[in-house]
Amino acid sequence: MNTRPVVRLTGVSKSFSMPGAPPIAVLNGVDFTLQPGEKASLTGPSGSGKSTLLALIAGLLEPDSGTVEVGGESLASRSEYQRAEVRARTTGIALQSDNLIPFLSARENVELALGFGSDVTRRRAPTVARELLERFGVGHRADHVPRHLSGGEAQRVALAVAIANRPAVLLADEVVAQLDAETAARVIDEVLTVDIAVLYITHDVALADRVTTRYELVDHRVRPR
Ligand SMILES: Nc1ncnc2c1ncn2[C@@H]1O[C@H](COP(=O)(O)OP(=O)(O)OP(=O)(O)O)[C@@H](O)[C@H]1O
Ligand SMILES: [Mg+2]
Repeated sequence: MNTRPVVRLTGVSKSFSMPGAPPIAVLNGVDFTLQPGEKASLTGPSGSGKSTLLALIAGLLEPDSGTVEVGGESLASRSEYQRAEVRARTTGIALQSDNLIPFLSARENVELALGFGSDVTRRRAPTVARELLERFGVGHRADHVPRHLSGGEAQRVALAVAIANRPAVLLADEVVAQLDAETAARVIDEVLTVDIAVLYITHDVALADRVTTRYELVDHRVRPR
């Protein structure tokens, strides 16, 4: 199969500098690709750089060297604003926490996402938003604002938001960590039915095993497992 990857990292290195301390080398020469529709998991020790990798793919961070391409577009030498535009067109992100707009209800958070580039009309948005919430088992919490959701419910709403405008790739960072094993498996399986590429970070080996492509971040690089 000779399709164009939806995510391609080539020789990506990233370190963080803090005043008065030596730089922390997090990623070193990472090569990584994700094909359209591919479902992949990423494991690795705490502090190994998994969230950093996701932030680079999302264009929230810039690499020190190497290139990042998403949806066939290079993020190199683009402004923060231009990277945000590519992200809005191509990428859904659910991070470890704080994904939702605090003063909007769960349904309004999803509706807002539907307003960015999806073909759902304004009139249908409430219905589609509720359907998305129901997919992740939180339809009954549609009218709750984030502070009135449990941690696991908020993460499931965040997934509904992240896939609302049908991105080419979903990046999910430990989004089911706060769920019981059964609900976590159900949510991941729901995510895996969506016809987009998925990269999900987890510490849970059983969840990581639910996909065919498993990657691990060790010694500053991504390796197949
Ligand atoms: N903005 C930053 N400034 C300085 N150091 C940072 C910054 N972001 C991350 N780091 C450091 O980079 C390393 C990798 O962090 P990262 O969040 O990517 O790890 P992780 O693999 O996601 O860990 P976890 O499993 O605990 O979420 C850590 O040692 C962290 O302290
Ligand atoms: Mg992390």
